[in-house]
Amino acid sequence: MDTYEITGGKKLSGDVTVSGAKNAALPIIVASLLADGETILKNIPDLMDIRTIITAIEHLGASTEFHKEKNTLKIKVGNIKNADLPYDLMKTMRASYYVMGPLLARIGEADVSLPGGCAIGERPVDIHLAGFEAMGAVIKLEHGYIKARAKSLKGAEYTMRKISVGATANIMMAAVLASGRTVLENCAMEPDVVDLGNFLLKMGARISGLGTERIEIEGVKKLNPVEYSIIPDRIEAGTFLLAGAITRGKIKVSRVVPEHIGALTDTLEEIGFRLEKGPDWVKISPSQKLQGTKIKTLPFPGFPTDLQAPIMSVFTTIPGINVIIETIFENRFTHVGELRRMGGDITIEGNVAIIKGVKGLSAAPVMMSDLRAGASLVLAGLAAKGKTEIRRIYHSDRGYEKLSEKLQALGADIVRVRGGNP
Ligand code: UD1
Repeated sequence: MDTYEITGGKKLSGDVTVSGAKNAALPIIVASLLADGETILKNIPDLMDIRTIITAIEHLGASTEFHKEKNTLKIKVGNIKNADLPYDLMKTMRASYYVMGPLLARIGEADVSLPGGCAIGERPVDIHLAGFEAMGAVIKLEHGYIKARAKSLKGAEYTMRKISVGATANIMMAAVLASGRTVLENCAMEPDVVDLGNFLLKMGARISGLGTERIEIEGVKKLNPVEYSIIPDRIEAGTFLLAGAITRGKIKVSRVVPEHIGALTDTLEEIGFRLEKGPDWVKISPSQKLQGTKIKTLPFPGFPTDLQAPIMSVFTTIPGINVIIETIFENRFTHVGELRRMGGDITIEGNVAIIKGVKGLSAAPVMMSDLRAGASLVLAGLAAKGKTEIRRIYHSDRGYEKLSEKLQALGADIVRVRGGNP
């Protein structure tokens, strides 16, 4: 298995361009199943999760061509030949459950294995299922599979008991072809959900209220295949800003929507970093006076849970006391043990992490436990004294396109070692 070797201590500088958003691309690729014909998707990042979802829609009957150098994916949809997604496809990636909405809408049945994915807590799917039930689907759990059936989906009024990105997207995909009007309350407002909604609108769906907590959908009979370009990845953009922060470097992150990372840039400013923003870029530079701060992960526009692990690495280097409250997922502190091994002073009490800034981190052999925990170790390695060896980097391959190449271009000393330690 490949590893990263990072010799820390280099101040990063220069420009980096952000790839397309994984968490928008995944539901949009699946939503292409809602229209017969050829969909063309641009700005699709070349990532393991994208390949997995492509395999999933091919299994269901789509044919695809992925031009990874151009980041363009062509998807041809004719007959949907399978309604099931086997465990082998689900276990590597939780987002495979997105097939449920489109399958129910198009053929009235969907059998998917209960999800696997990141090891960051229990992550149930009850809100998705209750939404399908509200629209008339019958759901059974059998032999590790969720089996959903609906002769025809009917529009419904449904209030999600908790804000869920996945459930908002999944139910929206089912509702666009249902008969009548669906009113969803307590919806996720994440840019990824809005991007999916914009894609569906372009296909001919009738949706209002995107980006608010109430979304209304008037079902249509048929959707048309379209060409669409995915938004930039706000989590990747945020990770690069944090790479600038932890190395006290000067970085310009290009092809980003600054409003998508407002919670992060506000936090970096509170710490004392200098931020400049343009229409599609953000620059970070260091300052002499940095001080600890407090964040709480929340649904958008709050601080994203996906940047909690990465910012914790930066906090280990900020003088004073820093506090993180993780409210989205339990068990999302698996990076803490590894950061402690690199010298981080971190105390955990339930869902609260208290991080005391230390003078410097020191290199150690460490291991990724999930995608964003993995990013936090790369950031720590960039700042640590000595050579950090990071194992199980397949986790970061799931969500960061050309991570080591992009960091090298900013001056980092990071090498991907093929066939390194398992
Ligand atoms: C979540 C994040 C998203 C992030 C992604 C990957 C939020 C609101 N969502 O999206 O930003 O990119 O993880 O790390 O920050 N839940 C249920 N039942 C359900 C669905 C969800 O109880 O049926 C709970 C989850 O356990 C979690 C919360 O609701 O505590 C939010 O989950 P959800 O937004 O659905 O998760 P993802 O779509 O994976």
